[in-house]
Amino acid sequence: MNDSDEVKRVLVQAADAARFAPSIHNTQPWRWVVREDRLELFGVAERQLREQDPDGRMLLLSCGTALHHALVALDAEGWRHEVERPAGEPLATIRATGQVPARPEATRHFQMLQVRRTDRRTVTDEPVPEDTLRHLVKVTQEGGARLHVLGRDQVLALAVAVDRAGHAESHDDRIRAETAAWVGGERPGGTGIPASALPEEVPLTTVAERDFKVAGTLAAGDGHDQAATYAVLYGPGDGPQDWLRAGESLSRLWLAATEQAVSLLPLSSPVEIPFTRQTLRRMLGDIGFPYLAVRLGTLDPAHSAPPKTPRLPAGQVIEIVPG
Ligand SMILES: Cc1cc2nc3c(=O)[nH]c(=O)nc-3n(C[C@H](O)[C@H](O)[C@H](O)COP(=O)(O)O)c2cc1C
Repeated sequence: MNDSDEVKRVLVQAADAARFAPSIHNTQPWRWVVREDRLELFGVAERQLREQDPDGRMLLLSCGTALHHALVALDAEGWRHEVERPAGEPLATIRATGQVPARPEATRHFQMLQVRRTDRRTVTDEPVPEDTLRHLVKVTQEGGARLHVLGRDQVLALAVAVDRAGHAESHDDRIRAETAAWVGGERPGGTGIPASALPEEVPLTTVAERDFKVAGTLAAGDGHDQAATYAVLYGPGDGPQDWLRAGESLSRLWLAATEQAVSLLPLSSPVEIPFTRQTLRRMLGDIGFPYLAVRLGTLDPAHSAPPKTPRLPAGQVIEIVPG
């Protein structure tokens, strides 16, 4: 195998690993084009939630998580990389620029990428330790976005915003129909959230989880969210590149949380609805734009991992350009 074959092989492998990335409603709204010397990331309009996410913010966050997953895979193989994030399409271009010995933490991150899940069960009464939270704040910041940990009063304000956003979305017939198309059942097509990843009943918590209005089969536990930490991922800009970067930071945060046995549940509805997005913005004291609210909590060791959600086959998201 010559050098360029080797580069191409490692780029295909990175695009393949990015299939594990989390995405809004598991839409996987990305597509990769592997060229001789580079990997290009594109958003896929057919897998955008047109009603719930008309401006594509959640699509870009999701593509950002996929981008970071691809970089983690390159790190784990010991490949240095350069990333361009031009305004427009492709959303990003990755070049593998040379090999170095893989760092042990890169291998660990690659393992985390395979075991990370969205866990909608309740968390335990053990709060996330302060130093773990500080570590997660730092890791997020290294990705370009920031993490603001909410105080008690702000958690109550978040609960109200989540409630209002949930109400607005559940009273919108078109959003309801769109959600029903992506969520529930067995999902043989490789996208969407299967019933097995959704609680039988939405747990009674201070800050409500998203109610998908679809019967789930996951036993959610009889815990609460009293010991949970809530935080808002935010950053300096509201442009497409900012949302892509925010997705990269989300992926960093989520993999680091998984490594520390901290569960992360995204709460995106208050960001999707403009008036609650404003509420979150004011909550941040106008220091930045809110990208996503998250619940962080410790996992019940008695629980096994929640079931895997499906993924599209590689052939549907990766195009290898011959030559
Ligand atoms: C940008 C974004 C927003 C999300 N918003 C929510 C949400 O509001 N509620 C929820 O239960 N899950 C949310 N999720 C989790 C996805 O549903 C989940 O990543 C997807 O179904 C794939 O499952 P997995 O994370 O277990 O691999 C979100 C994920 C992303 C990336």
